[in-house]
Formats: sequence, structure tokens, C-alpha cells
Amino acid sequence: MGIIQAREETPLLVSGKGMSHLPVLENGWVHCEKGLIHSFGTMDSYSPFSGAEVIDASGRYVMPSYCDSHTHLVYAGSREIEYIDKIKGLSYEEIAKRGGGILNSAALLANTTEEELFRQSVERIDQIMAMGTGAVEIKSGYGLTTESELKMLRVIRRIGESRPVTVKSTFLGAHAVPEEYRNRQDEYVDLIINEMIPLVAAEELADYIDVFCDKGFFTVEQTERILMAGTGHGMRPKIHANELAFSGGIQAGVKYEALSVDHLEFTGDDEIETLLNSDTMPVLLPGAAFFLGMTDPPARKMIDAGLPVALASDYNPGSSPSGNMKLIMSLGMIRLRMLPEEVINAVTINGAYAMGISESHGSITPGKVANMFITGEIPSYQYLPYAFGSDLVESVIIGGKRIKL
Ligand code: NIG
Ligand code: FE
Repeated sequence: MGIIQAREETPLLVSGKGMSHLPVLENGWVHCEKGLIHSFGTMDSYSPFSGAEVIDASGRYVMPSYCDSHTHLVYAGSREIEYIDKIKGLSYEEIAKRGGGILNSAALLANTTEEELFRQSVERIDQIMAMGTGAVEIKSGYGLTTESELKMLRVIRRIGESRPVTVKSTFLGAHAVPEEYRNRQDEYVDLIINEMIPLVAAEELADYIDVFCDKGFFTVEQTERILMAGTGHGMRPKIHANELAFSGGIQAGVKYEALSVDHLEFTGDDEIETLLNSDTMPVLLPGAAFFLGMTDPPARKMIDAGLPVALASDYNPGSSPSGNMKLIMSLGMIRLRMLPEEVINAVTINGAYAMGISESHGSITPGKVANMFITGEIPSYQYLPYAFGSDLVESVIIGGKRIKL
């Protein structure tokens, strides 16, 4: 068995040239105890641990579970009809302007009970756990009223309580401007700041704060007001930036010490320079650009300039209806020209950093949470992102427990 991302000691993230370094221990063993990784080594040093269940993984690889640092997987219904409009030629922005897009999901969610929303969402969680995800960040943002935003965040909390997967939650009240605030955008921002954020904070419902800082959505000025209010309540920014234009979102995120800035299809030299002087993780979401047929972010240029990069699924009903992180690795290679080592680092250790858990997740390291999956028989670790349509997840271990046989 090969152990992918086996690190006795591990940095919190890898960047630049370091992204192409991936430690893989061939012919190895891993021992887990009390939900944590206890030790690993090569088979020549192996002696059985008394009382431990043994899984024979000959010919296979063990890989730390994916850390999917950007999703919107709590949503009601689906939007495949809009997708057809998109195929026929309407743009993402045109669909949004017609009351489709995020507002469509908000209307569906308003008419869905908390119980039903939980039921639909937890199904997606079970699906991504089976595909190898062990930690996931989930955003609100299909509520857009105080009541519905809180409903979403409570569902996110309940998911974390009812499944072994690690969940981080992000308040994204500023995802779109609701219909009743059309042309009164600043009043909606006031509502977010004066009503939503204090209530979210009082119930401790969110770890992070997000704003869709982009052309046609929220301006830099509005973003900064919201981030200031959020950070004042202990929520670190993780924002949507530069998906549709050079929006200034990357600079705004870095200014407020964002943990990550995400999307980044429009990233130029200034943005790269800003990111190089920060602790902010650039998160790329190749599923969204692929699904929408839009520009890809300049991943190669970013990594070659010395930046770290994380990859996430953006699992949501409008721009990336998939939480398949293995496919995301493949898209990272096919579309972003990243190497196998780089995409694996991007969905494990750097993904963990982008959701604030890289001290405990993202690598096979003694003391970290025992979240990993075992592949089917494959010839090499590079085969994983290469075989883009195959599942290749044979068993899943989360918190030291086997959850899929
Ligand atoms: O990350 N860009 C903003 N939000 C989502 C899309 C949400 C939707 O279309 O429902 C995204 O792509
Ligand atoms: Fe998103």
C-alpha cells in the first residue's frame, strides 16, 4: 500500500515550488487510534498493534480525505432548467437579472421547511463522504432574509452534529440582493450588518463571513463594510472575488486578512502581488468555470509566482452541481495545467488551510484526525486524477471509523 501525503511533520500549507512536492511512502502501513492517526511506516518496520482491526490494502493507496473548503451544499431543489437556458446561450449574469440564479434558489428555500432542507442536504453530505470528502465548508446565502439565513445556518450546524465529517460554516448573507431591495442595495447591506450578523454571532452559527464581491453583486465598499462588521463579531473573511471581473475583491479580502479568497478567474499581476504579501489562500473552483463555460483562473501563473493554491468544489445548484473532489483534481490538471502532486496538495493540505483546520487535517501525520480513504487497486497515485470518470474510492475512514466497505 502507498501512503499519499505522508508527513511526520507538516507545514500548514504548501506554496509555489513546494506544491509539486508530495511525499508518497510506497509499501507502507498506517495505524489509527482513538480517532487519530497514531503512526505510519514501511512494511519492513511493521509489527501488529494488539486489538487493532487490520485492513489489507495491498496494491492500493491511502490518501487523506479531501478538505472541500468552499461549498453551498445546503440548498432546496435544483436548477437544471436554467442550465438548459445557459446551454442555449444566456449568460450567468443574464439569468441572475431575470430573477433566476441565486434568487431562484432563495425562493425555493423560503418554501422549504428546515426539516426538509436538512433531509435534502444531508443526502449530499452522505454522497460526498462516500466520494472521499472528510471535511467540508458550507455557506449560507440562499436565504437572503434574516429568518431563512438562520434556517440555513442551523441546518449546517445540524449536519455537523449528525455526521462524522468535519464541518465549518460561513455566513454569506451578501450572496445576492433580494428582489424587494432592488435599487436599495445599501439598505440590504444595512440589514446584514445591523440585524443578521449580530443574530448569527449570538447563536454562534458561523465560523466565517463571506461576500460575493463582484460585478453586478456587491461593491468593494459594501464588501468592506460587511467584513468589518463580521470580523468585529469574530468571523474571519473567506470571500467570493473576481469571478466575473477585476472587482477589487482580492485586494479587499487581503486587506481584511481573509483566510481565503475564492474563484479568482480574473487575477492579474496586481492581484498576484497582493496575495504574495498575505496569509490569504487563493482558492480556485474549476468546476464552476467548467460548468458555466467561463474563463479559467491563471493557476499556473499563480503557482509559478510562488503562491499557494487550494482547489474546492463550489458544490451548488447554479454553477457547480457536484461535490466530486476527484473530478475537481482532474479539472485542475486538464483545465488549469496543474501537476498531479499540485492538485493533491491543493485538495488536502491547502484545502485544510483554506477552512482553518490544517493543524488537524489534510495530511497523514501522527496526531491529526484519522480521516482518509483507501483507493481501489491502481498502478500509481498519478492514476487518481488521470482516471477522471472512475470512483476509485474503496473504503472511507472518518474519525478512525470505517464508514464505507
Ligand atoms: O460560487 N458566485 C457566487 N455564488 C455561487 C453560485 C451560486 C448560484 O448560482 O447559485 C458560486 O459560483
Ligand atoms: Fe461559491
